Amino acid sequence: MAPGFQRREGVLGCDGVSLEEAAVRFGTPLYLYSKAALVAAYTAYDRAFDPVPHRICYALKANGSGALLRILAGLGAGADIVSGFELEAALRAGFPPKLIVFSGVGKTTDEIARGLDAGIGEFNAESEEELGRISAAASARGRTVGVTLRVNPDIDPKSHAYISTGLRQNKFGVDIALAPDILRRARNLPGLAIAGVQCHIGSQITDLEPMEQAVRDLVALSNRLLADGFPLRVIDIGGGLGVDYEGGTTLQPAALAARLVPHLEGLPLTVLVEPGRSIVGAAGALLTRVLYLKENRGKQFVIVDAGLNDLLRPALYSAFHRVEPVVSRGGETRRVDVVGPVCETGDFLARDRNLERVQPGDLLAVRDTGAYGFVMSSNYNMRPRAAEALVDDGGLRLIRRRETFEDLTRTEV
Ligand code: LLP
Repeated sequence: MAPGFQRREGVLGCDGVSLEEAAVRFGTPLYLYSKAALVAAYTAYDRAFDPVPHRICYALKANGSGALLRILAGLGAGADIVSGFELEAALRAGFPPKLIVFSGVGKTTDEIARGLDAGIGEFNAESEEELGRISAAASARGRTVGVTLRVNPDIDPKSHAYISTGLRQNKFGVDIALAPDILRRARNLPGLAIAGVQCHIGSQITDLEPMEQAVRDLVALSNRLLADGFPLRVIDIGGGLGVDYEGGTTLQPAALAARLVPHLEGLPLTVLVEPGRSIVGAAGALLTRVLYLKENRGKQFVIVDAGLNDLLRPALYSAFHRVEPVVSRGGETRRVDVVGPVCETGDFLARDRNLERVQPGDLLAVRDTGAYGFVMSSNYNMRPRAAEALVDDGGLRLIRRRETFEDLTRTEV
């Protein structure tokens, strides 16, 4: 049986561990992760790209919790980071600096300096101006650092507008047509070793055609640059593979690789892949308890103890997550909205959903919330951020305690 969350005899569990036990021990709302599912997802990527020299750089933005990072670092993963503190978290978890690539459109001078001092593998620059800043910081230290240039191929990833990143109207990368000229100029800048080009067209991609097109464009550009004598060593194809939030069969890394590897084979370059969601998404669930049942003029609400501060995706992207009673009693379903305690109409986890009859005190699991769940949580309404726990080899352990009032007010001066 696949590792992770599975229903047996009507009860949802995680690798043989009881979700009710986890909820009783650590309280709710609780993010619970399966180490086995995390390891399986990373390993599937690593194997899928075996036909080419590769480095799987886990995108920390999807989930930056230290316990999960240490597992991935231990498996030999690289890291894709987008902020100074993601850099600190990656280093603390044991990712070798050389396997870290620093992306993001708005790196500050301090962040660039810290990346240089830590000895990261590559900066993924998003503009000509940024190449200039990196050059200045590197040469001031008498250093040379690898840089990749993020290009924008103007390709529609067929995902949600907020998470499309490779369209001309998006802020990311430079126009792919301008890349050769930008790099020709950058070649003369001190402190820069032009290492390759990068592209990431979006997230939650379920149609491989746009990704294949982007990789074709990236390969053509890399070949042109190699022919121009650029000593490239990597080609960074970004992340983006989606999760099937409906619970069907998720596109596997093997399917992605089957489409992309034929374009990448034979290049004298290491292929960098930056998956986030497809590594941790299905490995996590948010456990929440039913507080109240309520009816307003025929509309049924299930009020639970997790809100949009815990899981923002439904409110921000109208994202769909399965919401399931941990113990299924079967029987008829009712059309309900599953809503949180936050004082916002947008505070829902599920809308117009057919849910079995539940009662106050019942435990629900919001599925596939390992990625962009906890990391996007906030203290809105002065709610503490949730606890996180890990199922590891049949055992259960807390990896982050719930915040206290003192935690929330500690930074006030
Ligand atoms: N590399 C770069 C440069 C990225 O911008 C991203 C995601 C990734 C890699 C990882 O993409 P993934 O494999 O996770 O799709 N908060 C949104 C997702 C935002 C993704 C932004 N960039 C959500 O909850 O759907």
